[in-house]
Amino acid sequence: MTSAALSVITSAPQIQPANFLNLLIIDDERSIREACREVAQSLGFNAVAADSAEHAYRLLETQSVDAVLLDLRLPGAGGLEAMRRIKERRPEAIVIVVTGYGTVQTAVQAMKNGAYDYVTKPFSVDELKLLLERVVSHLRLKSENRILRERVKSKQGFGGIVGRSPEMEKLYRIIAKAANSVHPVLILGESGTGKEIVARSIHYAGPFRDKPFIPVDCGSLVPTLIESELFGYVKGAFTGANQAKDGLLAVAEGGTVFLDEVGELPVDLQAKLLRAIQEREIRPVGSTRRININVRILAATNRDLEQAVMQGTFRRDLYFRLNVLSLRIPSLRERRQDIPLLVAHFLERLTRNSGIEKLLSDEAVKALLAYDWPGNVRELENCLERASAFTSGPLIHVSDLPREISNLAPGEPFPGNGNGNGHGKIIPMAELEKQTILSAIAELNGDKLQAARLLGIGKTTLYRKLKDYSAHP
Ligand SMILES: Nc1ncnc2c1ncn2[C@@H]1O[C@H](COP(=O)(O)OP(=O)(O)OP(=O)(O)O)[C@@H](O)[C@H]1O
Ligand SMILES: [Mg+2]
Repeated sequence: MTSAALSVITSAPQIQPANFLNLLIIDDERSIREACREVAQSLGFNAVAADSAEHAYRLLETQSVDAVLLDLRLPGAGGLEAMRRIKERRPEAIVIVVTGYGTVQTAVQAMKNGAYDYVTKPFSVDELKLLLERVVSHLRLKSENRILRERVKSKQGFGGIVGRSPEMEKLYRIIAKAANSVHPVLILGESGTGKEIVARSIHYAGPFRDKPFIPVDCGSLVPTLIESELFGYVKGAFTGANQAKDGLLAVAEGGTVFLDEVGELPVDLQAKLLRAIQEREIRPVGSTRRININVRILAATNRDLEQAVMQGTFRRDLYFRLNVLSLRIPSLRERRQDIPLLVAHFLERLTRNSGIEKLLSDEAVKALLAYDWPGNVRELENCLERASAFTSGPLIHVSDLPREISNLAPGEPFPGNGNGNGHGKIIPMAELEKQTILSAIAELNGDKLQAARLLGIGKTTLYRKLKDYSAHP
């Protein structure tokens, strides 16, 4: 795939925004409630009904509500009062008031108080349908605008994702679309490209952001553990199962389960997962009972799943299920123009955490720009964290970077060598020693004891030298 090959598989079913929307119908006439519910459900709404204002308030305590169909002629509390209280609890909700002959005046007042529209009884199914369709497109626009506003708010990128390259801009558009869909999304990308933060963005930009986002690392758990984590188990299902436990697919109720490293899932679990997604139910280990689930699945992998399908290690049917929408996060070397922004972002964080302003020398920046970043953003983040740990002062020099990166800036004299002695190529022993020690620590992922052992010096010597370096960076 080229860098421009971020793709939404267009054979995906048409996205139905009403799938997400919760409609609360408040009417004391049962037949009306039922008729409205039927129409709303046919448009994909999730509809709940209340026969009184009091009943509605109780529902509002637990239900998320996007739109309300409110009969203004409710017994008890007046319709206008009910609307005021609903708006108080759900300021964002769209309220449509239903009026009868003789209450149009009240409807006008309701509109003044913030109702979205009104409909007069008796109304036809088509009239209600049209009205609800308008509500759907209004809410959809509102949600898209909110996502755009979030985008603008964060000058660096989208939500917590940093990057303004055309490749990333394209990704943000796909994330915004995916956020408004209920379908599974398969997130592809090399290691460290940000698959998990993209999954989080899809969840948190969507309508169910108040529901749980549960990541499950399919690569790090042993197969039996993944099964009991995902599906749950009953007491006594296996040795050590002293208590029943709910599966994460059930716990996420209404939210998202993020299957990280899904390519590592063993084949028998792939079959169980497929069944769970298709039938929207799970059977806990050791149980005969099935439990309904209502969860969105996001999955990520850095493996070539198509190839795994061909080799028979990944089920084709599950692949198609997970791959309804797919997006690929470009590697960092495909979008080098984002490196400075990412560097600024991570330095700002380091500055915040350490209380000391962290800066990079020009040569260090050049080296970072020239490097290929096989470990992508994660490698860049780690590299800056480590380099800044080595320097107690504000400036990170190229010599503080790992050797494979600092090698890319051969022109830079080592700090301290710019003493005008006219022999730019001659490096003082102390500087060489510092270089060697710091690179060894970086190469060993910060393991100073191991570095001391391999360099053949005592650990106290190493600590003393590091202290010197931070005192005189
Ligand atoms: N565009 C980005 N902007 C800001 N931070 C990022 C970006 N991409 C990745 N990161 C950061 O880099 C690190 C790695 O990201 P993440 O864990 O999402 O990647 P991944 O693709 O899941 O990696 P792996 O395959 O290693 O699990 C995280 O600390 C994340 O916050
Ligand atoms: Mg990850």
